[in-house]
Amino acid sequence: MTDPAGPAGSAASAARSEPVVLGTPAALREWRSGQLGSVGFVPTMGALHAGHGSLIERARRENDLVVVSIFVNPLQFDDAADLEAYPRTLESDLERCRTLRVDAVFAPSAAALYPRAPEVTVHGGRLGTVLEGASRPGHFDGMLTVVAKLLHLVAPERAYFGQKDAQQLALVRAMVADLDLPVTIVAGATLRDDDGLALSSRNSRLDAHWRAQARAIPRAVWAAAQASADGADAARAAAVRVLEESALRVDYVELVAPETFEPLDPGAAQGLLLIAAWAGEVRLIDNQLLTFTTAGPDGARPQGLGEV
Ligand code: PAJ
Repeated sequence: MTDPAGPAGSAASAARSEPVVLGTPAALREWRSGQLGSVGFVPTMGALHAGHGSLIERARRENDLVVVSIFVNPLQFDDAADLEAYPRTLESDLERCRTLRVDAVFAPSAAALYPRAPEVTVHGGRLGTVLEGASRPGHFDGMLTVVAKLLHLVAPERAYFGQKDAQQLALVRAMVADLDLPVTIVAGATLRDDDGLALSSRNSRLDAHWRAQARAIPRAVWAAAQASADGADAARAAAVRVLEESALRVDYVELVAPETFEPLDPGAAQGLLLIAAWAGEVRLIDNQLLTFTTAGPDGARPQGLGEV
């Protein structure tokens, strides 16, 4: 794909309909050095869905230019089979980026981004080793390392991350604060399917049976929210009950302090409910902020859940 605005497109690039596709760090740097105005950046692993789209739309509203990266980062996969099975849909991803008026798509090969196995990587500390980090050793260090590289290359004013991956978001915020990275992190709400299941690139790997079973995850979230007026223990128990009635294999159901992901203090007003479960071969996660002091559940009921 070529850049109809020509090099150094600046003001004209906002009206451009074809994103520039850049395959190497050098090409990205060259493009970036010719741009004026604020850049909003949405890092992704592709197989783009409406959840990614909501982040891109927000970046479009809040910045002069929008950059999306599409890179299935081998460093953050602890399981070779999961890396192999990860969906790759570059053509339709580029089409979605075009529709959303993205200015540049950075889609490097693994060899372009990692010309050698990196000697220096980012380590997430305690927050990187609990929950998702405990289940997927090395995952967050690999994620932080690629996000640090991408932030340096894209040099955005703002970078957009989904609340869906709450622990990832917390770690990225911690990296930006602790390493003084010059970027503002913006969090986007989780987009859900009509039946409540959080949109995920991995959902495309669910067959009809497991897709139906996966509904237990948002139902568990909703059950916990409904029970949260009775306190944290009741909320967690309600989620566990719903999941146990399904065929899902639960990895964890935890209520943690929303900022630190430490175990919840007794009497805490709020807790973050985190769920990870296997639907067959596919691992799914979800989360919801719960408030224990007020009567009634947090947030709007996801559509189509029926009674829980
Ligand atoms: P990926 O899973 O492709 O997600 C890219 C971004 O989209 C993440 O910030 C994620 O939280 C957000 N997202 C995913 N599902 C969403 C949904 N249903 N609603 C709203 N936002 C959603 O997360 C990664 O890629 C990678 O770890 C990455 C940060 C790109 C580093 O490799």
